[in-house]
Amino acid sequence: MQRILVLNPKGGSGKTTIATNLASYFASQGDRPLLSDNDPQGSSTRWLKKRKPEQPFIHGVAAFEHNSRMTRAWQMRIPADAMHVVVDTPAAVSAHDMPEMTKSADAIIVPVLPSDIDIHACSKCIADLLLIAKVRRDENRIGVVANRVRRNTVIYQSLMRFLETLRIPVVATLRDSQNYVRAAEAGFGLHEMKHSVVAPDLADWQPMLAWLKAKEGTVRPSEGINPLPETA
Ligand SMILES: Nc1ncnc2c1ncn2[C@@H]1O[C@H](COP(=O)(O)OP(=O)(O)O)[C@@H](O)[C@H]1O
Ligand SMILES: [Mg+2]
Repeated sequence: MQRILVLNPKGGSGKTTIATNLASYFASQGDRPLLSDNDPQGSSTRWLKKRKPEQPFIHGVAAFEHNSRMTRAWQMRIPADAMHVVVDTPAAVSAHDMPEMTKSADAIIVPVLPSDIDIHACSKCIADLLLIAKVRRDENRIGVVANRVRRNTVIYQSLMRFLETLRIPVVATLRDSQNYVRAAEAGFGLHEMKHSVVAPDLADWQPMLAWLKAKEGTVRPSEGINPLPETA
């Protein structure tokens, strides 16, 4: 079982977009993943509710309803048939909460937008992960995703230069695409949409999916996932 945390305290960076699309991808591959919504705004939960019974199944848990501090991301009972757990997190997670949130994560995906404000917020987020949550670079658990990029822009070049200085792998570069907006509205993920429409976006996802795949089977201590009584 692989636990994937999508984290960046900056709102609007693409956490829910990545969490829902990852869950949809795993579901389209025949897994029955768990999508855990730790954001009181409930965007992932709303997306899940839009899905039709004939779509590939995704377990959902509105974790924020049971967990006022939103730290124990993995505390919910994990269904036995879920091979992947994807955790969507709220904006404004404090550095103080990061050690608890991240300790059982196999992969921590940090989306960042090409803007000065977002670059600044991302650098603080990565510093907190390294220094406060004590995630070590050599564990290769953190992957940055450059999101909503327009390749021919100056700010995109600045973002990529900044990401190089972090020495954290950039596991995907997702273009700015209305397909994400359409998918979100309809309760779909890109991998469930008409291939000819989303082909360039699907290609963007390949490096991140390969990074996650390569990490599967890497054993990590499983503290923090003690099954609790059924809450969902
Ligand atoms: N690559 C993208 N291209 C176009 N729109 C995007 C992309 N990623 C996210 N969005 C849109 O940006 C907004 C914020 O994204 P969201 O995933 O909700 O961010 P967060 O969960 O970090 O607050 C949403 O309206 C979403 O549809
Ligand atoms: Mg969100």
